[in-house]
Order: sequence, then C-alpha cells, then structure tokens
Amino acid sequence: LSSQRILVCQNRTCRKQGAKTVLAEFQAQNIAEVKIFGSGCLGQCGNGPMVLILPAEIWCDRVSVEEVTAILTRYALTSDRATPTTPLTSPQSP
Ligand code: FES
Repeated sequence: LSSQRILVCQNRTCRKQGAKTVLAEFQAQNIAEVKIFGSGCLGQCGNGPMVLILPAEIWCDRVSVEEVTAILTRYALTSDRATPTTPLTSPQSP
C-alpha cells in the first residue's frame, strides 16, 4: 500500500488565495491511495494555494481547483515511477 499524502496549506495567506476550495476538491476526488490533509503554513506564503505531495516532495504553487485532477493523475498516483520534472504550474510574472 502506498503512503501518498497531499498537504494543502490552510493557513491565512493560502486561504485568501482559495486554498479552502482546493482542499475540498482534493477531498472530493476521494482517492483511496492518497490521503489528503489540510496543513499549516508551508513556508511559501504568497505563492498559494500551496500543495505539497509526499513522500515525493513535489511542490505545486498557485494550485487552482481545475488543476486538482491533473495533479493527482500526474504526480500522486504515479509518483512511484514518475520523476519530478517540470512543475505543473509555472509561476506567473509578478
Ligand atoms: S500560508 Fe500557505 S504557505 Fe504560508
């Protein structure tokens, strides 16, 4: 059994950026192999909503609800074999 975990920051800054709905969307996917947690600040405030996939330690920034399924498919469900390459979300220019 896998011990995939996904942390979705629920601290103030990320919540302001929509982390609550992102967390809800991850939970709504209800994937047995992946445990979803709301977390405290992940130290990346301002780039939120921040998502951290463990144990692979893949960081996703500015995650939107629309990206949740893609993140699960691309990283969490295949991370035994996947090599972390390019981030799914590229930072927007400031
Ligand atoms: S509030 Fe989310 S990373 Fe700090």
